[in-house]
Amino acid sequence: MTLRIAHDDDSRTMWGLMKPFEIGIIGGTGGIGRWFADFFRGEGYIVHVSGRRTGMSLDDMARICGVVIVSVPINATMAVIHEIGPLMKEDALLMDFTSLKGEPVRAMLAHSRSEVMGCHPLFGPDVQSMEGLNIVLCPAKINRWKGWPENVFRKGGAHVFETTPEKHDEMMSVIQALNHLDTIVMGLALRETGIDPAELKRFSTPIFNTKLAIIEKVCATNPRLYADIITGNPDIGRIIAIYERSLSLLKETIEKNDPEGLAELIKGGFQ
Ligand SMILES: NC(=O)c1ccc[n+]([C@@H]2O[C@H](COP(=O)([O-])OP(=O)(O)OC[C@H]3O[C@@H](n4cnc5c(N)ncnc54)[C@H](OP(=O)(O)O)[C@@H]3O)[C@@H](O)[C@H]2O)c1
Repeated sequence: MTLRIAHDDDSRTMWGLMKPFEIGIIGGTGGIGRWFADFFRGEGYIVHVSGRRTGMSLDDMARICGVVIVSVPINATMAVIHEIGPLMKEDALLMDFTSLKGEPVRAMLAHSRSEVMGCHPLFGPDVQSMEGLNIVLCPAKINRWKGWPENVFRKGGAHVFETTPEKHDEMMSVIQALNHLDTIVMGLALRETGIDPAELKRFSTPIFNTKLAIIEKVCATNPRLYADIITGNPDIGRIIAIYERSLSLLKETIEKNDPEGLAELIKGGFQ
């Protein structure tokens, strides 16, 4: 085998070696996995996918592919890592797209002898391209694959940065768990009012329309994904306590009929 210096323009070649590699995506028949299958194919890679009943077997994927990516629903992720991990070759790369990073990265390290890179694309399959969007990488055991994920995503226009699984999950406790929790609270409160949704839309303001679209996306598109993102976050207890304290503070101020105090609180929320 001929050794050569890896080059950005030819990232389909295994990092540092002449042999081109193929990519396997477990969960690549739907959702974000299918989106990335299309992306990698657009970059010239051969991509194999699997779902629950269709596509390549995990044995074949581990045997054929230089890179295998786990992209299944959060509640199925650990079982899939336990299955694919021991099949992976030592010189291959095991990655995942899970929206939480601590548990899956620990499991990939524990169950595989391959190299391991956690990854979280901070966008969903409804976007046209990754141009200008964020992708988090959590390098856990990286040697010969160093640089490949970053390069291929940068080439696609993404803003790629590295962090630890712990820091990622801490930030997602706010960006995803708190954010979606707040949307769900609004959705439940709207239902509790008993007002007909058509009537709400008839009276709607632009800002309310924007909020309704967010509520519809979170509550209707993939409720189990949001439920797992919230319940699985290690910081969720602290975040809910903060949320409750903030609501109590607002309630007390409103009950005191203190608009100046409320305005101060509202101003404080922006800083
Ligand atoms: N959706 C997003 O916005 C988004 C963004 C970033 C990261 N993520 C992460 O990406 C992962 C996948 O999320 P998703 O929203 O793409 O999920 P999804 O749309 O519900 O499903 C993705 C794929 O998983 C397969 N699948 C479902 N259950 C499975 C099981 N028990 N075993 C093996 N494969 C199974 C499905 O294949 P079949 O239906 O063919 O069986 C499908 O191809 C999650 O970890 C999520 O946290 C999602």
